[in-house]
Amino acid sequence: MSDTFHFYEPRLGHGLAHDPFNAIVGPRPIGWISTRSKAGVDNLAPYSFFNAFNYTPPIVGFASVGHKDSLRNIEETGEFVWNLVTRPLAEAMNQTSANLPPEVSEFELAGLTPEDARLVAVSRVKESPVSFECKRTQILQLQTAAGDSVPTWLVLGEVIAVHLDRRLLKDGVYDTAAAEHVLRAGGPADYFTVGVEQLFRMTRPG
Ligand SMILES: Cc1cc2nc3c(=O)[nH]c(=O)nc-3n(C[C@H](O)[C@H](O)[C@H](O)COP(=O)(O)O)c2cc1C
Repeated sequence: MSDTFHFYEPRLGHGLAHDPFNAIVGPRPIGWISTRSKAGVDNLAPYSFFNAFNYTPPIVGFASVGHKDSLRNIEETGEFVWNLVTRPLAEAMNQTSANLPPEVSEFELAGLTPEDARLVAVSRVKESPVSFECKRTQILQLQTAAGDSVPTWLVLGEVIAVHLDRRLLKDGVYDTAAAEHVLRAGGPADYFTVGVEQLFRMTRPG
């Protein structure tokens, strides 16, 4: 036992009021993922197990904890769109996490406008200032260290087209602070946004 460090093995429980995992690996960017079902219904849902994994070609991915509608649509069509969540869109993003039957579109529920993407047959969120059109590259079911299957799927996709509101470009450089990205933190309800106050610069050693 250490007075300084709380130590635990996750498989045996964390022994705290709340599991700190999500708060520690955070704040995380949000994958606001739009897809279209084979029947043609638009789907939109937030995934904070989301990140970028490669530059060339650009590849993004998110994890579906359980076999959810977004995953099913991507399995069927091989396509999805990632939309940036900004502070003015936070509440709408939250509404799109509602568990709706597959025939109901979260766009409508959250008062968002579906706009046709250009290279994939999926709607992007018109109100979002950045969207990536993606083609599925891999879907990997996760495993434990012991090799047992976990009911979670990592969906990876190549970004084949980018929509970027020119308002966020300052002399050709993307202005992250101006975009007011929304990031997911821990607990049931914590989020962050970043402003220019959090910016610091550090160049890599040569
Ligand atoms: C901010 C936020 C982040 C979320 N992150 C995830 C996630 O990483 N993985 C996941 O499976 N569900 C996540 N959820 C829950 C899904 O959004 C929710 O289950 C949704 O209904 C899935 O929609 P779908 O079935 O249309 O794909 C998150 C919800 C919120 C509000």
